[in-house]
Amino acid sequence: MDDLSGRVAIVTGGASGIGRALVERFAAEGMTVVAADIDGAAVNGVAAAVGAIGRLLDVTDGPATARLVEEVETSVGPIELMCMNAGIASAGGVELPDAEWRRIWDVNVMSHVHAVRAVLPPMLGRGRGHLLHTASAAGLLTSIGAAAYSVTKHGVVALAEWLAVTYGDAGITVSCLCPQFVATPMLEVFDADSEMRAGSTA
Ligand SMILES: NC(=O)c1ccc[n+]([C@@H]2O[C@H](COP(=O)([O-])OP(=O)(O)OC[C@H]3O[C@@H](n4cnc5c(N)ncnc54)[C@H](O)[C@@H]3O)[C@@H](O)[C@H]2O)c1
Repeated sequence: MDDLSGRVAIVTGGASGIGRALVERFAAEGMTVVAADIDGAAVNGVAAAVGAIGRLLDVTDGPATARLVEEVETSVGPIELMCMNAGIASAGGVELPDAEWRRIWDVNVMSHVHAVRAVLPPMLGRGRGHLLHTASAAGLLTSIGAAAYSVTKHGVVALAEWLAVTYGDAGITVSCLCPQFVATPMLEVFDADSEMRAGSTA
């Protein structure tokens, strides 16, 4: 495995759950980690505990995402790894109001678009960079009782595939994380174990 020490990573949704675990593991590998989250106090606490840098960020805010990427590129170092991990759950079917569909679409899908738009130009300039998209098993199969969540996670998988195909020859590598059930606060939104059942349901 490559020596990761000193390489720069941004992790969105770094205050809790899977994002927090990514922050802690990358810091343990010696990476310079910027943990970003809409919960500023929590992300600063997570970052401080492992020597990372905490930043307040609403991932639905494209200009703020671009500003963070620029700040990191100029003040911290070239971004090696961009982890687009922040996400929300939303239980319910097609009857969910349009506003709720748009809210989860903005958080779960457009946040990846904003981040990639910001980070691709410097990565392409260097001819190297890695994109890590947190999708879900619900993006490969489905999640019972959670229509909007399933649709947005399929969107993340589609975006990751498109990026891999489009920029692979330019030195950009892409990973798409598709977990099933992980015991994090997000699961409180789901009824019972719908996310876990995604793995066994078409
Ligand atoms: N927990 C699971 O079973 C599971 C399974 C598959 C995929 N996932 C995905 O993993 C990712 C992380 O989820 P988790 O389970 O760790 O949840 P979590 O709720 O523990 O963490 C999500 C983090 O994202 C942050 N966040 C939410 N909206 C944000 C916004 N607008 N801007 C910035 N930060 C925001 C939250 O403050 C929180 O810190 C999500 O994309 C989720 O869909 C989770």
